[in-house]
Amino acid sequence: MEIKTISREEFLRQVGVGAAFLLIASCAGSCVKTSNSSSSSSSVDMIINVSSGPLSQNGGSLIQSGVIIARTNSGTFIAVAATCTHQGGTLGYQANTNEFVCPVHGAIFNASGSVVQGPANTALQKYNTSLSGTSLRVYS
Ligand code: FES
Repeated sequence: MEIKTISREEFLRQVGVGAAFLLIASCAGSCVKTSNSSSSSSSVDMIINVSSGPLSQNGGSLIQSGVIIARTNSGTFIAVAATCTHQGGTLGYQANTNEFVCPVHGAIFNASGSVVQGPANTALQKYNTSLSGTSLRVYS
């Protein structure tokens, strides 16, 4: 049997490649996104100026800090988590039915965040809204 000698640099390079492989392999198992995970963090408190932009008119909506805020056709404000509880699609607001719709697999949530149509089976986090002049507070 022949013993091969390698330089210190060669040894470190080979060990480094092995360590990187182990790190990637261990992460691959634990970094997979699970389905039907709950929506994002519930701690929200923000002020939005509704004198201009999408929320200045009935039927408008926008997404800010992971929350979708909508102005209904009757002029009230509603806010829910913007991430679908099925597999994380970004929701849109449908003013004519006053519902939040996921474009990925078609889940539908009502204005309170409850599931109207699957495949999602977990409600959205709903947030409070409070209007003062043209300042809308959205908070948990
Ligand atoms: S990600 Fe929204 S319905 Fe599947």
